[in-house]
Amino acid sequence: MAGVRLLLPRRGAPADLGGRVVVITGANSGIGKETALALAGMGATVVMASRDPGRGSAAVAEVAAATGSTDLHDLRLDLASLDSIEAFADTVLERFDHLDVLVNNAGLVLGRRRETADGFEETIGVNHLGPFHLTRRLLDRLVASAPARIVNVTSVAHKGATAGMLLADLQSELSYAQMDAYAKSKLANVLFTVELARRLDGTGVTTNCVHPGIIRSRFARDGDARGWLRLVYPLGAPFMVSSKRGAQTSVFLASAPEIQDVSGAYFVRRHQRLTSPTGRDATAATWLWDESERLLAAAGRAYLPGRGRSTPLEPEVRAGTPPPGLLGPGGA
Ligand SMILES: NC(=O)c1ccc[n+]([C@@H]2O[C@H](COP(=O)([O-])OP(=O)(O)OC[C@H]3O[C@@H](n4cnc5c(N)ncnc54)[C@H](OP(=O)(O)O)[C@@H]3O)[C@@H](O)[C@H]2O)c1
Repeated sequence: MAGVRLLLPRRGAPADLGGRVVVITGANSGIGKETALALAGMGATVVMASRDPGRGSAAVAEVAAATGSTDLHDLRLDLASLDSIEAFADTVLERFDHLDVLVNNAGLVLGRRRETADGFEETIGVNHLGPFHLTRRLLDRLVASAPARIVNVTSVAHKGATAGMLLADLQSELSYAQMDAYAKSKLANVLFTVELARRLDGTGVTTNCVHPGIIRSRFARDGDARGWLRLVYPLGAPFMVSSKRGAQTSVFLASAPEIQDVSGAYFVRRHQRLTSPTGRDATAATWLWDESERLLAAAGRAYLPGRGRSTPLEPEVRAGTPPPGLLGPGGA
């Protein structure tokens, strides 16, 4: 990989991220907020993306007070809306001429089937299709800023899904169960990491994914979960790992120099681990990428490299296959 910008005096010491621009989704709560705290503490410029203005500004104030950072950016991002994703990406691209780290952290589990503003089942929409679209919107800037990193927060729950489940019913239209929908979305995070790493090979941008542990946060406690999950998380909270510890592997993947050349891997407690067999299925990873592109194109969106703003598509483009881009067929 060309160049090494995250130089450390000694192994294991906190990285100096001064001058680095980091985007974190779901930064107002739990693991995302702790990731923001840690990376701001290392001197990074941190874009804290959150969907709710009140919760977002409260978290930014908290991180500013804890770290003394004056380089925090409180931006709105609703991953259940492609318009919101594009507006957010445009703001980031306008405000920063380089981007060093993207942490796709935001995620949820939903007791009942809902749809996003663009008609996607919301679990796969927020946990996979939204981050997929956001990453592609920011990808040219990440590549131009290389060495750069993309961190995807998945879950051990990905092991509850198979490629067959994705292929048969990606959007849980035939049947809906909250843990099946969640497991499919987290498997999608793993497969996205695998395929993105393949496409980014040689660009100087790495991507890895992380299972943070079973973490005490707002996850499954915000009223959206149902049944046993709604009980287990509040009742089990005293025995769960803190969000601060849960953020440690995300922080490690975003900053540690010793893994600067590692890409396409799955980490748990800072160690590389094997995903489920499906999580290592290159064919499934390529299928999911193509299917995600197809779904976004059907929603009138596509990745048009070099455009800055890509949407809405021209009618003739919307009707046909999305044009190959930097990372499309024949790309890097
Ligand atoms: N907690 C665990 O045991 C556990 C285990 C494995 C993996 N994970 C993963 O860890 C990640 C972080 O979860 P957490 O435990 O820190 O839970 P959390 O405290 O509930 O944080 C989730 C974050 O995602 C945001 N979010 C939800 N829907 C969104 C949307 N439509 N647009 C933008 N942001 C949205 C939330 O915003 P709001 O505050 O506005 O809702 C919140 O900031 C998730 O990807 C989750 O799947 C968690």
